[in-house]
Formats: sequence, structure tokens, C-alpha cells
Amino acid sequence: MCGIVGYIGKQRAVPILLDGLKSLEYRGYDSAGLAVFEGQRVVAEKAVGKVKALEEKVGSLGDSEARVGIAHTRWATHGGVTEANAHPHSDCGSKIWVVHNGIIENYKELKEKLMGSGHFFKSETDTEVIPHLIESFLKDKSADSLEEAVRQTLKLLKGTYGLVVLSADEPDLLVAARNFSPLLMGVGNDEYLIASDASAVLKHTKNVIYLDDGEMAVVTRNEHHIYDLNRNSIDKKTHTLDWDIESARKDGYPHFMLKEIMAEPEAIGNSTRGRLLPDDGNVVLGGLKDVERILRDAERVIISACGSAYLAGRVGEYMLEEYAGIPTEVDIASEFRYRKPVFRENDVLLVISQSGETADTLASLREAKEKNVPTLGIVNVVGSTISRYTDAGVYQHIGPEIGVAATKSFVSQASILALLTVFLGRKREMSITMGKRIVSELQKIPELMKGILQNKEVIKNLAVKYKDYEHFFYLGRKYNLPVAIEGALKIKEIAYVHAEGYGAGELKHGPIALIDKNFPTFAIAPQDSVYEKMVSNIEEIKARGGPVIAIGTEGDKSLEKVADDVIYIPKTLEMLTPLLTVVPLHLFAYYVGVEKGYDVDRPRNLAKSVTVE
Ligand code: F6R
Repeated sequence: MCGIVGYIGKQRAVPILLDGLKSLEYRGYDSAGLAVFEGQRVVAEKAVGKVKALEEKVGSLGDSEARVGIAHTRWATHGGVTEANAHPHSDCGSKIWVVHNGIIENYKELKEKLMGSGHFFKSETDTEVIPHLIESFLKDKSADSLEEAVRQTLKLLKGTYGLVVLSADEPDLLVAARNFSPLLMGVGNDEYLIASDASAVLKHTKNVIYLDDGEMAVVTRNEHHIYDLNRNSIDKKTHTLDWDIESARKDGYPHFMLKEIMAEPEAIGNSTRGRLLPDDGNVVLGGLKDVERILRDAERVIISACGSAYLAGRVGEYMLEEYAGIPTEVDIASEFRYRKPVFRENDVLLVISQSGETADTLASLREAKEKNVPTLGIVNVVGSTISRYTDAGVYQHIGPEIGVAATKSFVSQASILALLTVFLGRKREMSITMGKRIVSELQKIPELMKGILQNKEVIKNLAVKYKDYEHFFYLGRKYNLPVAIEGALKIKEIAYVHAEGYGAGELKHGPIALIDKNFPTFAIAPQDSVYEKMVSNIEEIKARGGPVIAIGTEGDKSLEKVADDVIYIPKTLEMLTPLLTVVPLHLFAYYVGVEKGYDVDRPRNLAKSVTVE
């Protein structure tokens, strides 16, 4: 995701800002920029590509006497990867400069109003409304200081932000604010650093203040004040970090994989925020606006993807058929591209890819395009090849996934498929009541997930107990069959344990022959429409001496009578259970991998983005 660095103090700002940006490079980004107060004005430089490219562009500005500035690495969300879209962004007079992480959901209406009153925009970003709003409050005198103009601006913003503002008219000041996007202040000796991530401040100080949502900081080189948006002053504790830079990047987690599993609730929040219409039992998917008519007439959805993205697609197949009533087929992209698929009129191809660069998925897309089939994407990386080739799509907005194994991207993709189900369903037979039910249950998922994650020690203990087994079955039915396959995939790639993900109903058709006391089974058995069938399968395994770890619904004590161990998940709508049942499976694979001493962030033989066949 994007990275922020701000500096105010007695040292030369440009080298500190560039160095700070370099320490944020691991987060992934596509362009970078900075702005410093130099002479009597603010000077900005931006570059597409690496921080190195920005450093080269900055040239002699690097020797400038500037002692205050802001900088940013951008991960595109609104608008392509261009210099104009790179941060910092400024007002009409190029006096007020802003770096921003997050998404301003109501930027379109704000931008229209601002343009109507004569503001001139230079980028396609949502961020640019912020400096223009600040400018307008100062111009019309409804604010008499930068601090006040920022406060009034924040009150108009809907969405998420971590931001820092610099103004040529008040050069000894930085104003920062946070709402659902991390921001902290490093407190040095007559200097402050403001950053989205501790790794950017650690070289200078270990004393940090974390801003909370709804707070803004007003910072000069030797003092700071923190307020809420109603000007009430807030006393904040200064924390002393005992992290090195590597652990700071991981927010103190030992691995990116664990950090990303712990971020699964946030991923669902980011993928659904601003898209849910609870009162209408509907969703808004802005990226599909131009193809609404095609989607209304669509008679079949074909999903093509690889690995975990494919498995998310299989969860989507159940959702789309059961709730939107639209025939759906899912195929592994490497098969789809070669099997000469037969397209019919009113087919739509949906490709799913975190990276947006997976070669086989891209080839499926090309195949469909050649046959003039409308194409949609669910993609995380903005501006990636797949995101550019599809006719329309929905971005995941979950920031970069650094661990090689897909974790937060899987739950995000499945949550977007739930959105798509409501979107297509409400254009068909889905009632408003059902739409409301799905939307309201989806809203609760992040909190429910947090409950599971809080009990991660339970899963860790199970990982210790089961780590020496060489084979596992992962069984599920219906919505949780793809989750079973995902659980097996994860333990294979992270812990190098042989595992099979299977439909529980298929057990008797062969694989049950493998069951004995050395072959444990994960049985995903929430209380849903196939619960009784799953319990029968568990009993069949137990009768043959196989150890069973069941995943069940909270309060279901009867599972404890049949399974050796039970992991509980809270109750939710059947179609959304995969978002909860997969969390313990991701954690289990992680902990078994760690217990065995493997590098879980970089499993052997694998690459994060599979850009070759
Ligand atoms: C599994 C995993 C892979 C990816 C697959 C697709 O943990 O990470 O199976 O899901 O390579 O990648 P994207 O989503 O980038 O197309």
C-alpha cells in the first residue's frame, strides 16, 4: 500500500525523506514524490517507478537547506500510474501540498463542486480534492489557519485517510490526520517524523506516538498537539519501540504471512467499504457501471483463475448460482486457455487475480476477448496487465500481499464475489429482504473474524499437536469444499505437508481407503444445509481410526463428541461461512510451517507472481 513520510526539524529534509521512502519500498508501490519548503515556496518532484528514479530527479534539491517536507510512495487506486497522479498533490496555487493513504469515497461529488467553483485539477486522484478543499476554506475565510482549514476539510471527507499537509504560508508546521489508515509520529530531539509505518522513523528515533482514528496532529519542530475533529485536545502516550527495521515492517509480527492473516478483517473492510447499501439491500460497484446492461442480460458467468484465486472463484460459483440464480462455471486458467472453450451469446468471463499478472489467467482473458466475450476482473494491483485488459472490474483495495501464499487476497476476493452476487442478484430475482440480509451479514464479518484471530493460540497449540503428521485430508461440502482445497493448498506450500482437499461426499468413492490413525482430517462442518452429511462423514473417519479436527459453529457441543478437536467459528449466513472457516486453516498452515522451521514468507520453489506458464 502507499507509504507516507513527513519531516520537520533541524536536519536537511530531502535526504531524510528519501531515506524514509526507501525504508517503505518493501510495501510495494508504483511511483513516488516529495515536496519541501525551499526559499519562500514549496518545491515538489515526482517520478514513476522506484524511489531511485525520484532521487535522480530530485538532483541538486537533495542539497537544499529545506528543513520541512512530505513524501509518498503511491500504490495506484484512482487513476493510472503517472507522474501527475503521484503524490504530493496541491491546490490551485501550488501552496498547499498533501500526501494521503486511503480512499476518499465521496471525492467525485467534492471534485464536481470544487470544479464548479473554479478549482483546476491536475490529477485523476481522489486525494487531490483535499488540498483544494483546504484552499477553499482559507480563501473564503471560513478558516483562519492551516490547522482549522484541515479540520474543516476532514469533516467533509468520507472514507479512509492517513495524511500529512504542508503549506507555503505556514512553513514551520505539518498537520497530520488519521482515519482507518495507519499514521504515527516519531518524536526526536527538536524534530518529528510522521510516517505510515514505523520502519520509516526507526533510524532517527524509537519514541513514537500512534495516532488513532479521528485524530489530527499539529506539529512544529519542537512541539506537537493532538486534537479530535472538535478541537478537544488529546493526551497521547509515547511508546518506545524495541523493534529493528525488519520487525517494524512486519508491524512487530514475526512474518508477513501472519501479519497478512491478521489483516484479513481489514481486507474485507477495504474490499467492501463504500460499496454496501444496507438500506437498499444492494451494493454499488462503480467499476461495473459501464457494463451494467451487459450484466443485466448475462446468462452465464465463466470464472477463470489460478490457485487460491481460482478457489475463491469456486466459492463465488456457489454464491452466484444459489443467490443470484445465474449459471456459473469455474475453470483453472491453465486448462481453460487450452480446452477450446465454447462461448455462448450473453456469456461473461470473470478473471480473478491478486497480482493481475498471472500468465494463464491473462491468456484466458485474451481467449475470451478474441471471441468478443465481455470480460470482468477482480484484481488487487491497480494498473496491472489484467486490470487494463478487462472491460470492467472491481479492485480489491487490500494493499500489497508480501507473503508468497495468498491469505488476505483470498478472503477479499470471496467478499467481492458476495458483492457481485448481490449486484447481479438484485438485477434478477433477489428480493430486497435477501439483499439486506447478505449486506448486513457481510458488514459483520470483519468483527467475527477478529474474534477467531484473537484465539489464534488455540490453532497454534493444534499445530504443535499435529505438526508431525505427514498427510492430511481437508474435507468440506458446498461452500466449504473450495475452502477445504484452499486449506490443503496452504499447508502443502507453507509447511511442505502432503494434503488433499476433497469433497466430503467423495470420500467413500476411494480416498477413505487411506484413513488410519496416521492420516488426520480437517472436517469443515459449520451448521449449514450440509451439516448432518458432514457429521456422518466425520463418524465414518472416526470409525476407521482417523484423527479429526472439526471446524464448527460456536455452541455446537455435539461436534466435540465425534471429533478429536474442534475449532469454533461464529454463526453467519451459509454463503459467507468460507470467510470465517478459512481463517483457522490459514493460521494452521502458518503455525505448522513455523514449527517446522520453514521460511513461511518465501516457500521453496514458489514465486509470488506467476508470470510464466
Ligand atoms: C496460493 C497462491 C497462489 C495464487 C495464484 C494466483 O497460496 O498464492 O495459488 O493464488 O498463483 O495468483 P494471482 O491471484 O496473483 O493471479
